[in-house]
Amino acid sequence: MIKKCLFPAAGYGTRFLPATKAIPKEMLPVLTKPLLQYGVEEAIEAGLNTMAIVTGRGKRAIEDHFDISYELEHQIKGTSKEHYLTEIREVIGKCTFSYTRQIEMKGLGHAILSGETLIGNEPFAVILADDLCDNTQGNGVLSQMIEVYKKYQCSIVAIEEIPKEHTNKYGVIAGNEIESGLFMVKDMVEKPEPQDAPSNMAIIGRYILTPDIFDIIRQTKPGKGGEIQITDALLTQAKKGMVLGFKFQGKRFDCGSVDGFVEATNYFYTKDKING
Ligand code: UTP
Repeated sequence: MIKKCLFPAAGYGTRFLPATKAIPKEMLPVLTKPLLQYGVEEAIEAGLNTMAIVTGRGKRAIEDHFDISYELEHQIKGTSKEHYLTEIREVIGKCTFSYTRQIEMKGLGHAILSGETLIGNEPFAVILADDLCDNTQGNGVLSQMIEVYKKYQCSIVAIEEIPKEHTNKYGVIAGNEIESGLFMVKDMVEKPEPQDAPSNMAIIGRYILTPDIFDIIRQTKPGKGGEIQITDALLTQAKKGMVLGFKFQGKRFDCGSVDGFVEATNYFYTKDKING
């Protein structure tokens, strides 16, 4: 079964400058929790226990976050503030973390290939922590995708219907619906203009990938924006075998953009207040 989750977290986060000059985008907090921790918690909920993180220069805060801070532990132990550490302590206790660096930021496909050394020859999940997901009912998005994987044993991308005018911000798929909300991918285009988009079904930052994807990425030439695109590699994989698009249940916030980030903050703040 799938045990490993890859987190590409090497991007520059330019849309959040100057905040991301010295702080990784993935460490920006929604309320008190960094984006990446939400992602790790979603992976744990899906039954995964090995977190593989692709970082880059200036991203050391990520490693420090998923580690014990002895000084802090010592200061806070036995005080009324100790409960603030409960959640992160639990996360650290439930899984292992390993890291590698993407030396040059050549795109998401390239970031995933950089993670091969941590994944090896087994199927794995990918979470882009800047797509923050919340399960409004039932299981988390990754957990839902694992259920689909158990049945079909192939690569799966999470999809969401978006307004057609936004297609140029996403990878967009087209395919045949084989079950309610599940599509066999026939076409996949990275950031098409609305008039060129094959549908309004956008890929969001959750994937399950079979390990043959690594060889495919190695052979994939730079595409849109001169970057090595996972979308191009997945289309090749779809043509060779099968890739599924899965319409998940739940809410998704694009925390890579300021609007999405603010929306997520308001959503989680209100949810927190309601739940006390
Ligand atoms: P984005 O394009 O949203 O992230 O990539 P970015 O490049 O950091 O953001 P902007 O556009 O400059 O504001 C989606 C995810 O893929 C990772 C990013 O860290 C992010 O989690 N990524 C992207 C890499 O790890 N390496 C890359 O070369 C590109």
